[in-house]
Amino acid sequence: MTQPRAKIIGTGMYVPDLVVTNDDLAKRMDTTDEWIRQRTGIEERRYIEPGQQPSDLASAATKQALEAAQLGPEDIDCIVLTTLSSQADFPGTSFFLQDQLGLSDTPCFDVRAQCSGFLFGLAVANGFIRSGMYRRVLVVGCEVHSTGIDISDAGRDVAVIFGDGAGAVLLEATEDENDDSGLLEIRLHAQGKFAKKLWIEAPGSGFTPARMSHQLIDERRHFPYMEGRFVFKHAVKRMPEVLLETLNAASLKLEDVDLFLFHQANLRINEFVMEQMGIPTERCSNNIQRYGNCSSASIPILLDEAARTGRLAPGQIVSMTSFGSGFSWASAVLRW
Ligand code: UT7
Repeated sequence: MTQPRAKIIGTGMYVPDLVVTNDDLAKRMDTTDEWIRQRTGIEERRYIEPGQQPSDLASAATKQALEAAQLGPEDIDCIVLTTLSSQADFPGTSFFLQDQLGLSDTPCFDVRAQCSGFLFGLAVANGFIRSGMYRRVLVVGCEVHSTGIDISDAGRDVAVIFGDGAGAVLLEATEDENDDSGLLEIRLHAQGKFAKKLWIEAPGSGFTPARMSHQLIDERRHFPYMEGRFVFKHAVKRMPEVLLETLNAASLKLEDVDLFLFHQANLRINEFVMEQMGIPTERCSNNIQRYGNCSSASIPILLDEAARTGRLAPGQIVSMTSFGSGFSWASAVLRW
């Protein structure tokens, strides 16, 4: 019997309406539009407004993916949600999403692999489908950074890069031997040795007697901390490595790829990687200029935009590559 393969049958995305420009941030901290554009390529990002929840973003992205696939929530066999900015400490955002979709007992859980989360989630979904456990799996990357960053002079290096958003893909099993579309290969890597180079320390269950305290807040340990240059250096090394490893596993060459999607952490990182690998700009899509770094939502948002704008034609090869906190890095290649 042929082993099922996972195929993307619908994509969706959602970003909140509130646009926050670099000039808006410059009113709240010592920064400039020029500095942010030059160092990161970012022009604006989106933030949620009072009353909006992460699961609202995830639900809107999911509804688009379901519409594209002409299916309803009840057709989903399992929900994998990836996030580093969970709606509650527990349960995961996926549970709030499941309820919002009107589902009563569809299994759901969160995957935590930070900016590489979407590709880790995709690998989990791919495993479910290939093993025959589920036929339709929803993978949603969903991040709300705006409520967790330090929008002040002290946090300016990290705060300016992040934005809120969600992206979703619906995967379906196929055994059709005449259809060679679908996920071809995925490769995942991690290096916990560098966990503290980019992290949020608190709340943390190792703090005694309580995981959160006024002291931790006063010491600003609930805000993200990043050694930006160190992270940058590793990103430009690891992304090419894992991209080539994945293409190699699929017996493909760089020239075979029609569209490269890289995690949107910093446009300069992606430009550096593309130049190093000889990838022409027209074969790569970036949207960090408009949305900032949406961590695990960045890649599915890019994929949805490519699908909706007609950038992708059936049979084309798409490569997706990420690097982020953990460190974690990953790449996937698919035939559209
Ligand atoms: O998504 C997960 C993975 N994340 C990444 O891959 C991010 C990787 N890192 C980066 O993208 C960059 O390191 C940043 C964009 C975050 C920072 O850029 P940088 O060129 O590494 O800046 P820096 O932190 O080394 O700071 C350079 C200068 C410093 O001033 P001095 O010491 O040279 O006088 C900073 O104080 O720029 C200053 N600076 C700022 N100035 C204006 C830092 N942040 C800002 C700011 N506005 N927002």
